[in-house]
Amino acid sequence: MQLKLKLTIAAAIAAVAGMASAQEVVKIGHVGPVSGPQGHYGKDNENGARMAVDDLNAKGVTIGGKKVKFELMAEDDAADPKQGTAAAQKLCDAKVAGVVGHLNSGVTIPASKIYNDCGVPMVTGAATNPNLTKPGYDTTYRIIANDNALGAALAAYAADTLKLKTVAVIDDRTAYGQGLASVFKKVAAEKGIKVVEEQFTTDKSTDFMAILTAIKAKNPDAVFYGGMDAQAGPMLRQMAQLGLTKQKYFGGDGFCTTELAKLSAGAPTLANVICAVGGASLEKMPGGKDWKTRYDAKFPGQFQVYSPYKYDATMLLADAMVRAGSSDPKKYIPELKKSNYQGVTAKISFEPNGEMKNPAVTLFAYKNGDKVPLN
Ligand code: ALA
Repeated sequence: MQLKLKLTIAAAIAAVAGMASAQEVVKIGHVGPVSGPQGHYGKDNENGARMAVDDLNAKGVTIGGKKVKFELMAEDDAADPKQGTAAAQKLCDAKVAGVVGHLNSGVTIPASKIYNDCGVPMVTGAATNPNLTKPGYDTTYRIIANDNALGAALAAYAADTLKLKTVAVIDDRTAYGQGLASVFKKVAAEKGIKVVEEQFTTDKSTDFMAILTAIKAKNPDAVFYGGMDAQAGPMLRQMAQLGLTKQKYFGGDGFCTTELAKLSAGAPTLANVICAVGGASLEKMPGGKDWKTRYDAKFPGQFQVYSPYKYDATMLLADAMVRAGSSDPKKYIPELKKSNYQGVTAKISFEPNGEMKNPAVTLFAYKNGDKVPLN
């Protein structure tokens, strides 16, 4: 009797295991820099995609009448264009159904061609250079505002709200930093702000004393930096050391992170920062507060800036697959194009070139070390 019961249980377990393996697996790729000085962004991004995959699997998703299981294939691009294209090719070869990524425009732009060549859609919720959507690939989608909007919002705030007259501009010579700085300069000039000094650095540098000394000699009202927080943090510290403490410090989403407060290590210049992100603040996102509570419980202390967008990017891909009844990119790309998806960050639909329709832009400042929205 006992043996019979054991056998029955064993058979039941085998049947359940058999059912599970009959489930179709849909692979979603995620790529970002999870190593190196930008590792905190990459981890935050990957966490967002992972949380979406976990939520999808917990809820149970049926595509074309078949129950599916989503699997995240997570790759590291180390914020490097070469590693980024290699990771993109790896995801193509693994036949992922879609890709969420990358972080850096300088990596995303070359990788987007690889995805287009292999016909796999890529949704970024972080790369902001406008050139990303110029080729008009039907595999490239962005669910945040681009640098045309970020640069213009920052210049308008500097000129119209703060009535600043002069600015020094620095960029890190990446597609992102250089592109954002050029939009800012153009709009600032149109609004009567004079660029009194221009300097350049790299996305690997940590010593900015020489360029800051040159800027100090011009005594500008503000410094604009096009780049990431691994540079902006030490730069703020060095500005404090040089007495550049009155200047506002403008920049984009690249350094608008939680980590910036740590990287600037108590420098009083953090209070001069005004940075722009291409979406609503968590407070104003339709599902922001609840989502952030769940995120913090799952990934304590890891939130930076982009994870809610990466969550939505993953959900958006799944939503298009469900509507198409297929995870085959050829079949679901037409549905992805027609998305009208209510995400955590916003209601998401696309222009014909893959840019999001009507994205929000939010300016942030740091008060007592905490990032707070200004609008
Ligand atoms: N928005 C930044 C970029 O495009 C992260 O590189």
